[in-house]
Amino acid sequence: MCGIVGILGARPAAPLILEALGRLEYRGYDSAGIATLHEGDIERRRAEGKLGNLTAVLARRPLPGTTGIGHTRWATHGAPTEGNAHPHGTSRVSVVHNGIIENHAALRAELEAEGQEFQTETDTESVAQLLDLYLKRGMAPEDAAGQALRRLEGAYALALIFAGYPDLMIGARHGAPLAVGFGEDEMFLGSDALALAPLTRQIAYLEDGDWAVITRDGARFMNRAGQTVDRAIRETRLTGAAIGRGAYRHFMEKELHEHPVVIGDVLSRMIDPATRSVVLPDFPFDLAAIPRVTISACGSAYYAGLVGRVWLESLARMPTDGDVASEFRYRAPPLPAGGLGLLVSQSGETADTMAALRYMQDEGQHVLSIVNVPESSMARESDAVLETLAGPEIGVASTKAFTAQLTVLACFALAAGRARGTLDAAREAALTQALMEVPGHAAEVLEGAAAEAIGRIAERIAEARDVLYLGRGSCFPIALEGALKLKEISYIHAEGYAAGEMKHGPIALIDRHVPVVAIAPSGPLFEKTASNLQEAAARGGQVIVFSDAAGAAKLQGIAAATVVLPACDPFVAPILYAVAVQMLAYRVALLKGTDVDQPRNLAKSVTVE
Ligand code: F6R
Repeated sequence: MCGIVGILGARPAAPLILEALGRLEYRGYDSAGIATLHEGDIERRRAEGKLGNLTAVLARRPLPGTTGIGHTRWATHGAPTEGNAHPHGTSRVSVVHNGIIENHAALRAELEAEGQEFQTETDTESVAQLLDLYLKRGMAPEDAAGQALRRLEGAYALALIFAGYPDLMIGARHGAPLAVGFGEDEMFLGSDALALAPLTRQIAYLEDGDWAVITRDGARFMNRAGQTVDRAIRETRLTGAAIGRGAYRHFMEKELHEHPVVIGDVLSRMIDPATRSVVLPDFPFDLAAIPRVTISACGSAYYAGLVGRVWLESLARMPTDGDVASEFRYRAPPLPAGGLGLLVSQSGETADTMAALRYMQDEGQHVLSIVNVPESSMARESDAVLETLAGPEIGVASTKAFTAQLTVLACFALAAGRARGTLDAAREAALTQALMEVPGHAAEVLEGAAAEAIGRIAERIAEARDVLYLGRGSCFPIALEGALKLKEISYIHAEGYAAGEMKHGPIALIDRHVPVVAIAPSGPLFEKTASNLQEAAARGGQVIVFSDAAGAAKLQGIAAATVVLPACDPFVAPILYAVAVQMLAYRVALLKGTDVDQPRNLAKSVTVE
């Protein structure tokens, strides 16, 4: 979603901002712009579409100045045109904004009545016009900002610069993240540390409601009440070097090939190979005493949570509930005192999941987050954190972060089972052994005969208009994941269904044009899934089976095509089969020629609800 970069520098700002915006491209955006201060005046360049367009504009009309702000915009209010691209402002002030100003219509009406002339359809311009009015009335920039912020409702991260003030930048955060970077005689603002990584590793995060007045000498932080507060400067672990595509065609391809390493990294952090037992950090709550677990997350992270639910119920016999965060937060369910709220998120910034976290805290839950970005808001606001250690994930569609989430959840369920006495040491050893075999199996899926079979099946799927994914038990969420991944990167309509639900409706869709992708590893539910596949085949559906050799042999008579995956314990099958369905989506997207890393309309870090 939108990205912000601000620089109070010693060098020309626009090229540095452009480069930093490039590091935020992964978040998804549809226009971009930069404003700088030159001889006290604000100048800006903006362009619709990808950063290449802005680069071309800047090559024709460079932007001088060492103070500047830049933005990649993911349209919410107003089409993704140059005119609606940020920065917005007047001759007095320039503003970039992430989030949504919910009272923008009321502000616009009020400001127009005061004679302010709006140029765009955006909610953001109400902030710029409000500031402009206060500046016109003679307020100093800092006072104008303080007063304007009190008028804003909704969610925002803001960066502001002011004509005539080359040594001033103001940042504010309410519901959308913002970080201040400290350099040598230079200061920075960024919507995440990744934007700032090559510029500085000294980062302070604004807390919700904070705003910061920044000069080249440093930053002063104020909280919501206007009191000056200290915000710790931390050394970010991100480096500018970490991100490159290497020899891969897409970040998604690279990240798919990182599955084995990432899963292995999680396991080596969480499993003692000598005792084959799970070793987790101490939690500030007793797993044995948790009356109920409530899982909340969005998209793929939610599907990981659904697999986690099956594991927690079966291995630890923990009553567990799960809901997408955008529903959970408004459903506002009663939660038992002392329960555990479990959030799953790659970015750790997803607006709905953050709201679910805060609701859980209000309901007296212990809050545990499984996040990939250790410096994220979610990690900072939770009682305990389990990191997924997947490294930066740049492709918009989640891949390695998803299998890392599953691996962490698997370890957590084992630890919970041990703590609650539902899992003995021998069973724990067998299941950790099964987990330790996953990286090797995942590498086989990515490189071996399975990869070739997936390539052939992709040709079939690329022709389809609709695709049905079926699974049962812990593999039902993998059917959901397979369908979501196909939809988002190939734009082919797909649905994930619990295999047993098929005859309650979706079976009506089946004819010879509809591929039915079955996630069917050998295990206790295999025969049940096989019966559902018979029903699909009997209606002419093209049944495409993902199974192991034993399962594939049993389904030979009905399968139109088969991907044979390494045999594994059913416990770990969701992790392995996730690799395969993600790979299938990628191969189909390649055939369709879509923008794999930045699919249309999608954003990586969804910071609006
Ligand atoms: C799908 C995908 C999204 C995210 C969702 C949650 O490929 O990437 O569905 O899983 O937007 O994002 P995080 O995990 O950052 O909370």
